[in-house]
Amino acid sequence: MNESKVQEFLKRMQAVLSQLNLYPANHPNSQRALRDGWKAAADLAGDGNDDVVIGLKGYAFFLNGELLAYTSLMFANLYQDLTAREIESITLAGETDAEEYAGFVRYVGEHTEDFEAGGSIRINESRLVGPEDESAFADLRFSYSGVVGTLRNLDHRVAREGTFEMGPVMEAVEELIGQALGTGGASLLLSTVKSHDEYTFYHSVNTCLMAVATGRYLGLNQKDLVPIGAGALLHDIGKVAISPQILNYPGRLDREQWKEVTIHPQEGAQAIIAAGGPGHEIAATIALEHHARFDGLGYPRLGAEAVPHLASRLVAVSDVYDAITTRRSYRRAETPHRALQILLQGAGGAFDPDIVKSFISLMGIFPPGSVLRLLTGELVLISHHGGMTDRLEGVMVRTAAGEDIEPEPVTIETGQIGQQILAESVGIEPAALLERAGVAEQILASASPHVDEGAIERSGIDEEALKDQAARSLSSIVDRD
Ligand SMILES: [Fe+2]
Repeated sequence: MNESKVQEFLKRMQAVLSQLNLYPANHPNSQRALRDGWKAAADLAGDGNDDVVIGLKGYAFFLNGELLAYTSLMFANLYQDLTAREIESITLAGETDAEEYAGFVRYVGEHTEDFEAGGSIRINESRLVGPEDESAFADLRFSYSGVVGTLRNLDHRVAREGTFEMGPVMEAVEELIGQALGTGGASLLLSTVKSHDEYTFYHSVNTCLMAVATGRYLGLNQKDLVPIGAGALLHDIGKVAISPQILNYPGRLDREQWKEVTIHPQEGAQAIIAAGGPGHEIAATIALEHHARFDGLGYPRLGAEAVPHLASRLVAVSDVYDAITTRRSYRRAETPHRALQILLQGAGGAFDPDIVKSFISLMGIFPPGSVLRLLTGELVLISHHGGMTDRLEGVMVRTAAGEDIEPEPVTIETGQIGQQILAESVGIEPAALLERAGVAEQILASASPHVDEGAIERSGIDEEALKDQAARSLSSIVDRD
């Protein structure tokens, strides 16, 4: 199975569609996009001996009947365009013909009403579109991609008009939190999804999922988690103002560049207040304080003895965890276990030690998405941990002899671990693989949907005090200019 070729095929198709919206089909830009798109299609079709079927169903793409979970997330918009044209499957039969490819994309983009059947590209010919029943994990995955889409739109809007609307963000975040609550384990699997092209969007959704799961673990209820989720999602919205050259600069930033970076918390808080107004103080506070450290350092400075808001401290831990475990242009990715060690080193300094402790209890010392080589040589992908025991649950993906196998559920003990490996370096997409193996669905089915409304009182967290603190943090800093 070659998911990356499907991704290339879909990515090129998306590029052709956007060129065809701007230029006529014979314009050099359209021609170039069409040529690249056709090449990607031909590459996916391979030698043409076997048909290649891309199925669409339940907000997901399938390749020859196998779910492409990650692709489904990345191309949620294209999925909608295709299904709006009532396309349920695309079959590449034999060598792909360039003319037929152009006809196909023109049909998808509604530049033509008909598409001829029977060529090297065929639509709705196959019903090989994967499992019949819709899964609860697919709903969660759909909410995830919905939130990524909301952020994408919001980003365009902010870049174009300098402002955005809070309504769609709150709707998307409420839906995601509704789905994620009580399914902590399953939502943590999804938080392992990474994107290099759209780092900020995926990073923001992952931060949101983990902050919400940690908040839930600490005893916060749904009502308190929604503003925290919104803040986690929008914590880096102020980065829109920073040039991509600086954001992706592969070396150390100079003074000027650094100055530009360090104003994003303030910019973000102001943007949230401008967009949302009263009622969004906690989300704005999170944006303002997500780089303010527990020990009073970091930026912006909160003043003597000021500690960042609980919501900000919560988001800071998830933010750093996801950032460290993702490869960036200026830094390699670390394994999940290594990221926890870094958090632990920062406990009491950069981070609230109690939150770090809870985060580690929630994630387990080898968090979901960890790839471990056993002392006996096999590769195991971890899905969740066995509570206070040293048992880890996951799937075996490679034998000791180095042979890739269909993922097989397995329980291991920490004593069996030889080495940790970056999932990316062995071509593993943790969430996609665990979904395909049916493990994600099992975790979701076994999770308790119970939301403990009384937990916040027992945890000693005072809701009113939290709101007051948010208002105070904002008035002292945002109003300064
Ligand atoms: Fe940030």
